[in-house]
Amino acid sequence: MQKAQFGMIGLGTMGRNLVLNMADHGIAVCGYDRNVDQQKRLLEEGKDKLVQAAATMQAFVESLETPRRIMMLVPAGKIVDAVIDEIKPFLQAGDILIDGGNSHYTDTNARVAKLQDTGIHFTGMGVSGGEDGARLGPSMMPGGNAAAYAELKNILEKIAAQTDEGPCVTFVGNGSAGHYTKMVHNGIEYAIMQLISEVYAILKNAAGCDNDELHKIFTDWNNGALQSFLVEITAKIFLQPDDLDASKRLVDVILDRAAQKGTGLWTSVSALELHVPAAAIDEAVAARDLSGYKKERSIINDFTPATKTVNTTDKKQLIQFAHDALYFGMAVSYIQGLHLLQKASDTYKYEINMAEVVRIWKGGCIIRSVMLNDIRKAFVNDALLQNLLLDKTFYALLEQKRDALVNVLKTGMDNKIGMPVLSSSLNYFDMFSTGRSASNLIQAQRDFFGAHTYERIDKEGSFHTNWN
Ligand code: 6PG
Repeated sequence: MQKAQFGMIGLGTMGRNLVLNMADHGIAVCGYDRNVDQQKRLLEEGKDKLVQAAATMQAFVESLETPRRIMMLVPAGKIVDAVIDEIKPFLQAGDILIDGGNSHYTDTNARVAKLQDTGIHFTGMGVSGGEDGARLGPSMMPGGNAAAYAELKNILEKIAAQTDEGPCVTFVGNGSAGHYTKMVHNGIEYAIMQLISEVYAILKNAAGCDNDELHKIFTDWNNGALQSFLVEITAKIFLQPDDLDASKRLVDVILDRAAQKGTGLWTSVSALELHVPAAAIDEAVAARDLSGYKKERSIINDFTPATKTVNTTDKKQLIQFAHDALYFGMAVSYIQGLHLLQKASDTYKYEINMAEVVRIWKGGCIIRSVMLNDIRKAFVNDALLQNLLLDKTFYALLEQKRDALVNVLKTGMDNKIGMPVLSSSLNYFDMFSTGRSASNLIQAQRDFFGAHTYERIDKEGSFHTNWN
């Protein structure tokens, strides 16, 4: 039997789909899963393709050409460590072990360190695009080290989503850079999803749009400056009938309680630790948390009189404002996420090429959008750009949409519609555009009660005053 060029551990839908994607590109792959049914399923779906399944871990490792290229697609956490412990005795220096799950970057750091002395390369790789992405072309964010990536490049480039600027994969950076980048991707994903739901609330409750209109609006938006995967699927969601009652739309019977697996929270925690303001992401996580208090919300809802729609703006105008507000909010979500990534790259010595990250997000992943073309231009012009607002052209794109956002916020407030990410996006933009802020007062207070000292605008040094 021909030795396989790639091995996959974990044959759930994501793992199986990646194997089939590789096989479609003429890559011989061997899969392994403890669950025999999953092995059988792979062989069934992969019949007539260069796909094998191994019955044991040892047989799996022996089926692979060296250096071995192995990806684990198993649930993040302890299982990853258990698989590493199980496979380690069969591997040799030069082999490459990829963790393709959503692992926390600090776990990835620990695993890189743990395998350091063995010569086995550990590559933490973010994979985005869900099940369809895995089957047809995901966006992949591998970290680790450049030598290991050189061994993976050919295969990963073949199976990645393809764009006008090449395959959606690149060596993202050292150590845990790949998983960190995927974490930030997910933080941005949370913010954009929350923004879309806020705009949905405005269009539905203030503009009075029904599901057919919403479908049309999001479809139109997806043909313009808001073109993106999340806007595209949102348009489709509004048309989906309810299987249990065909007279209803599914979206209207889904419980309004948003779940989460934690990557948005991880992004916020890291942003707070690195002192990078990323309130759009924080607010998106908080909004999911708040949605979880369904019972309490229902009780409090009965305390207040029913919300009245105030038609201060005409419908067509409001839809246009909502478009621009969503554009503004999406831009701020990218700005904050990329600022964080740039800061993390400096702090953790990832050496991330920001323009390359933006390029590989242009296809295959959940946050792909046409806006990333403009964002990429800014990083191509200045690879060390700390914050996209410092790029005058990009800043101007947002400035033009500020009034529209303000109008949407006013309408939302009149209608008692909570818009945490839209409003925090405006606050962020306005505060970053303010040369002289009100933080002088905070410094005065700190010095007043704690003698923490302050700096002056007209003299160097640190000062303390005996306040009366
Ligand atoms: C992707 C997604 C994916 C993530 C889901 C669910 O890029 O394909 O980010 O990795 O797991 O979106 O995330 P939550 O359950 O936290 O919403």
